Amino acid sequence: MIVSVCSHKGGTGKTTSSLSLAVAFSQQGKKVLLVDLDPQANLSYSIDLVDISRDISHLFTGEATFEDVVHESFGISVIPASERLADVEFSLQSAEDRGFFLKEILGSKMNEYDVVLLDCPPSRSLLTVNALVCSDFAVTPVLLDVLSIQGLLFMTRTILDIRKTYNPRLTFLGVIAVNVDLRKNISKEVLTVFREQIDYPIFETMVRTNTKLAEAPSHGLPIQYYQPKSSAASDYTQLAEEIWNNMMTYGIREKVKAGQAHSAH
Ligand SMILES: Nc1ncnc2c1ncn2[C@@H]1O[C@H](COP(=O)(O)OP(=O)(O)OP(=O)(O)O)[C@@H](O)[C@H]1O
Ligand SMILES: [Mg+2]
Repeated sequence: MIVSVCSHKGGTGKTTSSLSLAVAFSQQGKKVLLVDLDPQANLSYSIDLVDISRDISHLFTGEATFEDVVHESFGISVIPASERLADVEFSLQSAEDRGFFLKEILGSKMNEYDVVLLDCPPSRSLLTVNALVCSDFAVTPVLLDVLSIQGLLFMTRTILDIRKTYNPRLTFLGVIAVNVDLRKNISKEVLTVFREQIDYPIFETMVRTNTKLAEAPSHGLPIQYYQPKSSAASDYTQLAEEIWNNMMTYGIREKVKAGQAHSAH
């Protein structure tokens, strides 16, 4: 299963959720690959993968192999990024098959993992397109504020575009509500809009506000290693279970549909 963690809006918890979910999946016995696809390289910094000689940008340019760039940390395999990824993205713009590079460079390696998580940059950039082109599912973390509703509409339009053009397999699995404090009226109101007025799947598990999540990157540790007993660690454990179950249910439903279509002919 390949999952893009994406939103066009910045600072909505993509990197925090990618890393925390990756570790949660691994603790639940899954083999996990986590890819930093953001030239800001926040994810790599969060687990101290900095100043390394080769990263995802070298894989894009053919200067490194998959084995050269993959690191084993905290029970997961990680491909880090660096600022150099911005230059690589720029140089890819003019290539004819520019949307398919990531799919090509990760290739069959992706089949070796139960879950591949792609931490996307905050824009509708070529890197996000590359992530969505090779994904089975997309999940979008949102803050419960009014501007997030608008950001989400934009994101789902992109997902629909990619589905129509490059990747009919791509499924929007759901919205992850993060940094949630239901004592705030605005959070409750936005949640009601998501649940009742907009027809989007929103995961039942929400990630509550927890300052430990903001502290963990400065220690170079995922939340499960920094504060294993925190509400954030337990929220992400529960969320990983919910996401996995949804992916499995979705897969079974698709197989049944395909079977029905087959027997109808
Ligand atoms: N549940 C939470 N409670 C408290 N702080 C949080 C929570 N989730 C995320 N944060 C904080 O919010 C900030 C933004 O999170 P993060 O970097 O994961 O967002 P992002 O979407 O990856 O940002 P960008 O768009 O720049 O890539 C970080 O400082 C992070 O620690
Ligand atoms: Mg990020």
